[in-house]
Amino acid sequence: MRTVAFVTQKGGSGKSTLASSLAVAAQEMKETVCVIDTDPQGSLTNWAKTRETRDIEVVASGAARLPALLAQLKAKGFTLAIIDTPGAEGPASAAAMVVADLNIIPSRPSMFDLWASARTRAALKDIGGDFVFLLNQCPPAQQTARVQDGVETLEEMGGLISPLILARVDYQEAVRHGWGVTELNPNGAAAEEMRSLWASIRRRLARIKPRSAARKAA
Ligand SMILES: Nc1ncnc2c1ncn2[C@@H]1O[C@H](COP(=O)(O)OP(=O)(O)O)[C@@H](O)[C@H]1O
Ligand SMILES: [Mg+2]
Repeated sequence: MRTVAFVTQKGGSGKSTLASSLAVAAQEMKETVCVIDTDPQGSLTNWAKTRETRDIEVVASGAARLPALLAQLKAKGFTLAIIDTPGAEGPASAAAMVVADLNIIPSRPSMFDLWASARTRAALKDIGGDFVFLLNQCPPAQQTARVQDGVETLEEMGGLISPLILARVDYQEAVRHGWGVTELNPNGAAAEEMRSLWASIRRRLARIKPRSAARKAA
């Protein structure tokens, strides 16, 4: 089982939105997915309640229980765990960063978000965590100077994963129904972004050692 965490203390950057749609896209692409909601706000716990099909397991967890929970989920046969974290620095985000094979730091193309991303990156560097940035809620005209600045800043800071995610109504509509964007509108541009994002993450995961193995060796 591989573990991917969405982390950044910046609220509103799209952690919960992307975690939910990515979970569905990965499940459609043959993973057996579970989602771990470590945010006391319970965004994804509510999403799961709204969702009628119970095909994706969503479990709420605090920081302390996380390692044992992951071991249980692995034993149950899940192939992918996606962790959503609160919009604040604290034990839940710190614990997620430690257990994740890959941390995804979503950021809007604004300076406040980019600065917050730098702090998250510093925390990940301290613990030797693997991470990539993801630019979210980009304006529809992609080639704006603001997006270009964001791309360059994040690339310099250590790697931007493709694709750029645009601001699209589908992301908000899907959450309202307890769906992912690939279920709401399978042929839409948002669905294509989520399938492409999962493909990028899968490629990246294939190149990195499972975090649990690295910890044992250390
Ligand atoms: N790509 C996107 N397009 C449109 N709206 C988005 C997108 N990503 C996030 N949002 C919206 O931005 C807000 C914050 O997203 P959310 O997932 O709650 O962020 P976080 O979990 O990081 O606090 C929500 O209202 C959500 O619907
Ligand atoms: Mg959230």
